[in-house]
Amino acid sequence: MSLRISRISPDDSDQLAALCKAGGDTLRLKIMRALASDSFGVLELAQIFATGQSGISHHLKVLTQAGLLATRREGNAIFYRRALPQSDSLGGTLHAALLEEVDQLQLPEDVQSRISAVHAQRSAASEDFFARMAGSFQARQDLIAGLPQYRDSVLALLDALNLGTSATALEVGPGDGSFLPELARRFAHVVALDNSPAMLELAHKRCEQEGLGNVELKLADALHDDCPPADCVVLNMVLHHLAAPGEAMKQLARLVKTGGSLLITELCSHNQSWAREACGDLWLGFEQDDLAHWADAAGLTPGESLYIGLKNGFQIQARHFSRPATDNRLTLR
Ligand SMILES: C[S@@+](CC[C@H](N)C(=O)[O-])C[C@H]1O[C@@H](n2cnc3c(N)ncnc32)[C@H](O)[C@@H]1O
Repeated sequence: MSLRISRISPDDSDQLAALCKAGGDTLRLKIMRALASDSFGVLELAQIFATGQSGISHHLKVLTQAGLLATRREGNAIFYRRALPQSDSLGGTLHAALLEEVDQLQLPEDVQSRISAVHAQRSAASEDFFARMAGSFQARQDLIAGLPQYRDSVLALLDALNLGTSATALEVGPGDGSFLPELARRFAHVVALDNSPAMLELAHKRCEQEGLGNVELKLADALHDDCPPADCVVLNMVLHHLAAPGEAMKQLARLVKTGGSLLITELCSHNQSWAREACGDLWLGFEQDDLAHWADAAGLTPGESLYIGLKNGFQIQARHFSRPATDNRLTLR
């Protein structure tokens, strides 16, 4: 310990002091807590904490300069998320300990209900998009990436799982149902959940056309409605339409049977903000580390990943996460 202190330079002390100072404020600690598995824009945080935009901006600046928050441009808005502690750099241990303590805090009820209100606004925007745009769904998907571009990668991950003949699958957000024939061929029983009646109708037509007798379609919200767990849960291009993807991962993990798998195909982080309007995207893709971090917090273990670069500059990540047979974190958290 004394060795380490003797190596701290004046600049280092400034950095450490900034970290301590950033953590020494009630509102800033609450902001850190609210960002535990979510990211919010300045206006959303101002709404959540019922504080003026300039006041919130000041606190965000202090937290960011201290290395406790990281920013990400989402179109015209800047979103804030927690930075991961760097265990091998100065302040890393303190940063990690601070997060651990912050996560024990309970946010006041009014703050929690305003977070729910922000999530509800995001979800409503997404549902409204699919209700209005089901007719032009395929054309809009093709603007960024259509199933033909990621089908083989998802199938490669799926086929590597070597699931038994009685295994079941759950597809969340099947859209027009294009992936359902592949699942129907590989699983004894397939349930497909979509919260958009218009999209479910497209999936229904696809199942009829293809004569998929082992596929059950349900109008349901995968995050809020009851659904029996499956051996393999698949989400293709759905996570970026969910209001709180980090929290969603915890709900999705509960839909995976013990020893089962979660397959997620997603866009990598990008800056094409037109995708919000044209494709109803709430998030402009995700960092690979974000998915791994959320999966870990949900008690899932990262497996194989495949990355697909597209000619239009987008990149897709196909990720496998498993729910370990002996993991008890899901029940403890
Ligand atoms: C971009 S589409 C992806 C469709 C398809 N998986 C594909 O790869 O082409 C997203 C789908 O997720 C559905 N969805 C969004 N949020 C959902 C939720 N909370 N529960 C169930 N379905 C949801 C939408 O209605 C839509 O059908």
